[in-house]
Amino acid sequence: MKDHDSATEYFAKALAGLRADTPGVTEVVHFNNSGAGLVPRPVLAASLEHLELEARVGGYEAAALREDAVAGFYSATAALIGARPHEIAFAGSATQAYATALSAIAFSPGDLILTTRNDFVSNQIQFLSLRKRFGVEIAHAPDLPGGGVDVEAMAAMMRARRPRLVAATDIPTNSGLVQPVAAIGRHCRELDLLYIVDACQSLGQYPIDVEEIGCDFLTTTCRKYLRGPRGSGVLYASERVLDAGYTPLFVDMRGARWTGPETFEPIAGAGRFEDWEFPYAVLLGCAEAARYAMGVGVDAIAVRSPMLGARLRDGLAALPGVRVLDRGERLSAMVTAAVDGWEPVPFKAALDARRINSALSYREFAVFDFGDKDVDWAIRLSPHYYNTEDEVDAVIAAVAELAR
Ligand SMILES: Cc1ncc(COP(=O)(O)O)c(C=O)c1O
Repeated sequence: MKDHDSATEYFAKALAGLRADTPGVTEVVHFNNSGAGLVPRPVLAASLEHLELEARVGGYEAAALREDAVAGFYSATAALIGARPHEIAFAGSATQAYATALSAIAFSPGDLILTTRNDFVSNQIQFLSLRKRFGVEIAHAPDLPGGGVDVEAMAAMMRARRPRLVAATDIPTNSGLVQPVAAIGRHCRELDLLYIVDACQSLGQYPIDVEEIGCDFLTTTCRKYLRGPRGSGVLYASERVLDAGYTPLFVDMRGARWTGPETFEPIAGAGRFEDWEFPYAVLLGCAEAARYAMGVGVDAIAVRSPMLGARLRDGLAALPGVRVLDRGERLSAMVTAAVDGWEPVPFKAALDARRINSALSYREFAVFDFGDKDVDWAIRLSPHYYNTEDEVDAVIAAVAELAR
């Protein structure tokens, strides 16, 4: 992990070049990296070049010509999260990756899914859907008084109830909280429990090491802090679950061989979680995004992006009529706040009019968290390393003017 001073010194030199790589910074103040990061030129070029190649020689033929570059997606993504290339599967979204992983677990009535009060909305809906169809039980570990899951209480629930699956979201979509996923993982490994981690907001913002986290599955996207194109997802499936035979329910002809009229055989690697049809231009853009992030340095990014978030959070917290909602021991670059006297859509529109990109979170995205905080909506502002301190201050000034 880079220390604060060396990361600051590094970005003081590198920032102008990184911004020159990012066409979007001349158009907008992009504080919606939690939605989708601004794509840098090399990523754009990788995707566009492939689309052009497809147009010239044919889609299947283009994929064959770029076989090595396609393999580069698996090696680059694996390098980024401490995995092996055969443990990586591409998906159309993080949610698709998550659902495909869940579908590989043969749940029986009464099986327990143990999760947190801050797991991502779509994951929570999928657990409820599994409950409806298969009769699984769902338990939520309690939070600490200062925010974030109480790991010791969660571990006690693991020991008492032996869940079929433990699930945690590293950084939820609805606040700056960073959950202690590696501490949860240590208990899962000790008790030999299946563990899935949603790291959708983490890839490209923080170093991720799947060995340290101790997860069996990890899902993420390339479009957010990694700055890849939209329409991407990644599933890490550990060798442990691959060797144990976990296979998605709706495995297709890429993931399995039809070995006879009555039989099929899943392929050896995480490719069994992929579909046959692939957006190759997106995948090649994602490979470039992974290399780009490693070139910038994820350790340095992990210092700068949350630092910009903290500057924004402190500035907003000082404004009358604005309540910063982020709680927890460790906070990311994502900042959420409630603003008195405004309805959500007009407030965001007022920021849009100032060319400030933001996002809205609603109570239905975070039923427990927003219930605890007693808010119906929040504005979400998420800078990244290529944003500037001046942009942070301009956003604080804009919110101050609107909240007045
Ligand atoms: C924490 C978290 N998990 C999962 C997702 C879903 O990602 P996708 O839209 O790629 O399915 C999001 C999207 O915002 C997210 O913030």
